[in-house]
Order: sequence, then C-alpha cells, then structure tokens
Amino acid sequence: MKFFVDTAEIDQIKELNDLGMVDGVTTNPSLIAKSGRDILEVTKEICDIVSGPVSAEVVALDADTMLAEGRKLAKIADNIAVKVPLTWAGLKTCKALSDDGIMVNVTLCFSANQAILAAKAGATFISPFIGRLDDLNMDGLDLIEDIRTIYDNYGFETNILAASIRSANHMSECAKIGADVATAPPAVIKAMANHVLTDKGLAGFMADVEKAGIKIL
Ligand code: G3P
Repeated sequence: MKFFVDTAEIDQIKELNDLGMVDGVTTNPSLIAKSGRDILEVTKEICDIVSGPVSAEVVALDADTMLAEGRKLAKIADNIAVKVPLTWAGLKTCKALSDDGIMVNVTLCFSANQAILAAKAGATFISPFIGRLDDLNMDGLDLIEDIRTIYDNYGFETNILAASIRSANHMSECAKIGADVATAPPAVIKAMANHVLTDKGLAGFMADVEKAGIKIL
C-alpha cells in the first residue's frame, strides 16, 4: 500500500519524505487554508520535494470553471493530480482532464455507486472518506472493501485512495483490505510506530544498560 501524506505543511512533508514514507501528497482547500499559504506557491513547493502524485483541489462548482482551474493546476508540475469533488460537474471535469492525460483524484466519495462513476469517468484515484463515515456511526472500512470488490470484479484501474484516516488502526485495516493508497495526516503515520510493549521493553533494556554500565561509543 502506498502512503500519501495529507497535509500542506512543508516541514512535515520533508521530514517524512526523507524517511521514504511519502509516495505522494494530498491537499484540499481546508489544508491549504490551514497552511496560510497561496495555493499555487505551496503546491509548487510540494511538487519540488515529492516525486509522486500531489493532489491539488479545484475550488469552483461548475464544470467549465473546474476544468479551467484543473488545467491551471496541472501546469504547476508533471506530478499534479487534479482533485475534483464527486459531483456531476466534477465527473465531467474528471473525464475531460483524464482524456488529456492529466491525473485526476475524485474526492468526497461516500458510496460504492459514486466510486463506480468515478472509475467510468477515468479517475486515476478515488478518495473514499473513512473517518467521516465512522463519525456517522457507519463503517468507513466497509466502503473500502466494497469498492475493492467492485473494481476487481470489472478490472477498473482507478486506484483506491483511502482518505479521512484518523487512526493508525485505519492504516493497517486499509492495507488488509487492499486499498492501493492511504492518505493520512503526519501524526497518524508517526503513530503507526507506537506500541506500549515496545516502550515497556525498551524501558527494561535501558534499566539493564544503566545497571551494567553498557557503553558502545
Ligand atoms: O483526505 C481527506 C481528509 O483531509 C479529510 O479528513 O479528518 O477532515 O475527515 P477529515
């Protein structure tokens, strides 16, 4: 499973990228707003750091303007994936951009039917939002599983990009189901390293290091 990092914070992207943990980046208008940066500038900076796909989201609601925005975003770098919402206008934009060979990430997907439409429209990525379904007492992971089954049934090449990931557990569950990519905030990726038995074991080893005066350097 590929890891995308869901942030527009340059320092955090750099840190994880240097560790080989970043196969791509996803942003959205809320993350751009949080960064306080100009969308075109910060997106260009991210594309200069990361070689994998960098999702940049359109902000218009009608297809013509979305398409113009998408084309402008795509000019930033070769690794831009234009992100469009899963609306009828977004699907039209997806089809037009993917016909032009531009990567498209269709976002705000909450149903298997929406995922089928995105694949038909030539999406490179479909972004089902797990956490926001969980918030409504639904099971976001069930949606990932349903889309995996449907895409495999028909050989759809659209990549399942599990999004709205809130916990380290979501990451391993997505990997078990077979999501192609998971995009997560840096804190969630870092939390994957945590285990209480690792901490306990290390404390025991450190006590013995102290007791025996073990030195390496
Ligand atoms: O990748 C989508 C993500 O940014 C949304 O996450 O936690 O706001 O539902 P969240």
